[in-house]
Amino acid sequence: MAHIQWSDDLNTNIAVIDSQHKRIVSYINNLEDVKDKDDRTVEEQVLNELVDYTLSHFAFEESLMEDAGYGFINGHKRVHQLFVKRVSDFMQRFKLGEDITEELLIVLKAWLINHIKSDDNDYVDIVKKNLGNMDARKGDGWLTMSVKKFFA
Ligand SMILES: [Fe+2]
Ligand SMILES: [Fe+2]
Repeated sequence: MAHIQWSDDLNTNIAVIDSQHKRIVSYINNLEDVKDKDDRTVEEQVLNELVDYTLSHFAFEESLMEDAGYGFINGHKRVHQLFVKRVSDFMQRFKLGEDITEELLIVLKAWLINHIKSDDNDYVDIVKKNLGNMDARKGDGWLTMSVKKFFA
């Protein structure tokens, strides 16, 4: 399978979100790289990094949606939760010794690209507008602080 190549249609044009999405893509590509090396320790490490980072991204994204008063936040959170459940089922199987990486990669690639292009794209206008006002309301550096909080 091929690496995911970042393309312009994946951009939300919210810089902090795009850099997080790119990082998730690079973790998926790392997983692709280690897949055939038959080293479960390395695979587990990449899987854990990918899962940890993705959970932080979801929490961060949800906080931006919440602050912006995005109307479909509950649905979006539910979509994140269902995906987390799906991935944790894969992790369980991995821990039981199964080779799940190929199957997981197919799911990750399809899910992520679809999610960025449709669900994430849907909050962009309201979140972008809110971020524009945020420094005035909450003081400079709010975004940096918030990133630190979720990615400590
Ligand atoms: Fe999302
Ligand atoms: Fe996202």
